[in-house]
Amino acid sequence: VRFDAAAVPRVKAWLASFAAEIATADMVDAFNTTFRTMRAALGRDPSELRVLWRNVAFSAPGLAKLTSDAEVAAFVDGAFKAGAEARSSTIGDPANGAPGDPRTWVAGTRSPDMVLILAADDEASLDAECASLTAALQPLASAPVYVEHGHTRAAEPGHEHFGFRDGISQPGVRGRSGPNEFFTPRLLDPSDPLARTFAAPGQPLVWPGEFLLNLPQQLTDGSPPTASVTRVCGPAWATNGSYLVFRRLRQDVPAFNAMVARAAAALRAHPEFATITDELAGALIVGRFKSGVPVMRALADDPELAKDVYASNNFLFEHDTPAVKPRSGSGLAVDTFPPAHADGTGARCPFAAHVRKVNPRDETTDFGGAANTLARRLIRRGIPYGPDYDAGDPASAAADRGLLFLAYCSSIQRQFEDFVLDWVNADAPHDDSGPDPVVGLASARTMTWRDARGVPVERTPMGPSPVVATGGAYLFAPAKSAILNRLARP
Ligand code: HEM
Repeated sequence: VRFDAAAVPRVKAWLASFAAEIATADMVDAFNTTFRTMRAALGRDPSELRVLWRNVAFSAPGLAKLTSDAEVAAFVDGAFKAGAEARSSTIGDPANGAPGDPRTWVAGTRSPDMVLILAADDEASLDAECASLTAALQPLASAPVYVEHGHTRAAEPGHEHFGFRDGISQPGVRGRSGPNEFFTPRLLDPSDPLARTFAAPGQPLVWPGEFLLNLPQQLTDGSPPTASVTRVCGPAWATNGSYLVFRRLRQDVPAFNAMVARAAAALRAHPEFATITDELAGALIVGRFKSGVPVMRALADDPELAKDVYASNNFLFEHDTPAVKPRSGSGLAVDTFPPAHADGTGARCPFAAHVRKVNPRDETTDFGGAANTLARRLIRRGIPYGPDYDAGDPASAAADRGLLFLAYCSSIQRQFEDFVLDWVNADAPHDDSGPDPVVGLASARTMTWRDARGVPVERTPMGPSPVVATGGAYLFAPAKSAILNRLARP
């Protein structure tokens, strides 16, 4: 939604009434607890529980219209204040008019003042709510309200368009949601020393200030991950709010499949990779099989491991992954799958593999020790858009499909931009890795493959990225109290 200065009093009045509708963390948490309780009792997902969540976020220009230039200047994050279009070439998008250049972005996603997010279990109620909100907002808007539709893929729910299961790994947030309840469920037995630093296997605990402004954050000075520091990130009313990075990422499925097939063919020329299949090459490129099974735990897909979302996320890279002790009553099963062994040389999981680039887990990086990586985590809330790819339909390749990448953090600069620049688009955190083959943007994209000793044996040209930005925005999602007490006020 874009609005001009004359509409500000009406936007404020609308926000005052909409605030009551916003899904707060408490509401979602209560729902999730009920969902988990019912699932445990019924032995299946309680599909009869249905919800519709609403939230709102603002760009820096939108916030300035509702508050003041001085208040927006008080946000510390320079990337947020500059905006996604101005920063796009910084993170590797082309600036020469080629696809990815903001001038080619879907017009509706460019320069929004306000973005509403609706999420629902059924499409009919979502469409009805979307229509009613659009009708309410259009009279306040200076341009047609633009609507972007995302949906889980009907053919493969939970899988993105390249076919890989997504949304398995998320950081755990430290802290409690009530006197007797942790915000992120703790599945490890308190007697397990790992329970101090992990909420669940492979899910480290991160201070809430990494996702919400003005709250305790991770220290990056070599202190243990349990240490925290509170820094001012923005005006006092921004406390408990979160930055939201939105990137509309178009995915070229045939180009991705061709990239995987080329890499597999190049590898087969080497005796140690002579039997590699396209399926395994794809898994090594992502770091997981399409089912979600991590290559650190299995080099052949394993439906039983795939079903266990906790075991599927229980792996480290630099060290052997220790066994964890489940807390009784937590529902966490004892993990009997073969454990992940240390892979400091990248012999098992390539250093460039998407999940290793974007979360090096226990590895020491150029950014510091493993605890420092906790200051580069995002809470991902993306969803696919567009029709499924149909290999049997020649017209299908040209359709617009991809990921509405949405990620929450407390510093767009540190947790998104620096992390993309330093690792995703670069030959780091490991030298001679190549950029992330899935989303890395670099002029010469090669991927380095190592033999069992970790010696590079193949550097495959990966071609242009199969993922291209077609829209985006850097936003701030305020706490409900900030809407009521500041943004909706004159
Ligand atoms: C269309 C583009 C993308 C695709 C197809 C994609 C796909 C995937 C897949 C399949 C996973 C594994 C599932 C999981 O571990 O939860 C994953 C994980 C992840 N992705 Fe992406 N991704 C995309 C873009 C991005 C971008 C732009 C970023 C950030 C710059 C990113 C950051 C992450 C992170 C942080 C994880 C979790 C890794 C972990 O904790 O082990 N992804 N992605």
